[in-house]
Amino acid sequence: MDISIIGTGHVGLVTGACFADLGNRVMMVDDDRRKIALLKRGGMPFYEPGLEELVRRGVAQRRIRFAASIKDAVDHSLIIFICVGTPARPNGEADLSAVERVCHAIAKSLRAYRLLVEKSTVPVETGEWITRTCQLTIRRGVPFDVASNPEFLREGQAVQDFLHPDRIVLGVESTRAKSLLLELYKPIKSPVIVTDVKSAELIKHASNSFLAVKLSFINTVARLCEQVGADVVKVAEGMGLDRRIGRAFLDAGVGYGGSCFPKDVAAFIRIAEKLGGDFQLLKAAARVNDEQRRHFVTRVRETLWNLNHKTIGVLGLAFKPDTDDLREAPSIDIVRMFQEEGAQVRAFDPKAMAHADGVFPGVAFCKDVYETARGADCLVLLTEWNEFKELDFARLKKLMRHPTVIDGRNVYDPGALRRLGFRYVGTGRGHAPH
Ligand code: UGA
Repeated sequence: MDISIIGTGHVGLVTGACFADLGNRVMMVDDDRRKIALLKRGGMPFYEPGLEELVRRGVAQRRIRFAASIKDAVDHSLIIFICVGTPARPNGEADLSAVERVCHAIAKSLRAYRLLVEKSTVPVETGEWITRTCQLTIRRGVPFDVASNPEFLREGQAVQDFLHPDRIVLGVESTRAKSLLLELYKPIKSPVIVTDVKSAELIKHASNSFLAVKLSFINTVARLCEQVGADVVKVAEGMGLDRRIGRAFLDAGVGYGGSCFPKDVAAFIRIAEKLGGDFQLLKAAARVNDEQRRHFVTRVRETLWNLNHKTIGVLGLAFKPDTDDLREAPSIDIVRMFQEEGAQVRAFDPKAMAHADGVFPGVAFCKDVYETARGADCLVLLTEWNEFKELDFARLKKLMRHPTVIDGRNVYDPGALRRLGFRYVGTGRGHAPH
């Protein structure tokens, strides 16, 4: 099939590259010319495992092309995916101006039937706005459909998630739109939910928000564990074996970050407000998440007594492993709070340091874990990269001023570290030692 992708961010590029790999001809458009030039040269605008290879293959086999304009893309494709950004406004509401601009541009170029698919995360009723906007511009008599096909791609696993999803959600209002999307997704074997556009839009926001609530729930339980000396890892294991609950997203930590959860939770709260509701549960989840970062700093302070004049080695800056993304990363607030209390911060991240310039003023970036540990009063782990899991702790102990590890993601075995002579403080794993 001939499809086009408007917007080559995380969602658009992964969607386009995967559809191309499944045998479709894909045209990609982005108004960021530098990004398109980089892609044409074979470069990648961000790190995502497996993606570079797919893009290269698609380009080499001429299944991926970069269109010069939206008109070019509309002329050559039957299905057009809208994957542009929907950033948060100061009041939490999603800013849909990029979606609107793209709709106008598509509508102006439409000469024959096209299916417009919203893939960007948008508030419920955006499909209606897209339809109305297009109706105002499109030449009379030119048919079109609008569908919603939300994505559930996790950064770092996006290619896997695209090709092996838990479900495919198709929000459609016509049989033509439904059969086109079913045909396009045919090679992917997974349950398909076909519904109306508004329900599909809600599935996306409700799913991300539910996961955020689950995380804030376990982080609250983690704080209780710290007070009574219990272990949240065991609590999560015990809860997770109940199939109605499930073990996923019960890893207590420094709170969620990234370009999706914080923004989508805020947007869902605003959607409810605009419709006259008050999503108190979600507001509480967002508050717990903010507090979790402060709470972590308190725990570090309780362990070191004072942060002033201390040297803290930070392992991991990205909001989660396998990505170089620093958007809304808990590390940003945590490092700033360390510095505000007078600590010197040294840090290492396997991928995110490439984008860390200006984000972490005053931080000494190191070439690896061992350089980060040199002279440190403690090491704090903020992102659970695999390469941090197996370390030479004997070497670290010699390098550090004090052998203390504060584990924001519970990756280490407390007993093993203590046997090696470290003070170990986990998250939701007993009291902080004084
Ligand atoms: C999230 C959703 O998981 C995807 O399904 C969705 O498509 C995507 O948002 C989106 O809306 O585009 P992502 O933001 O890439 O994906 O990251 P997640 O893997 O969901 O992690 C989010 C945050 O929660 C991270 O900061 C992570 O460290 C944290 N987390 C996750 C925990 O603290 N504990 C856990 O058990 C799981």
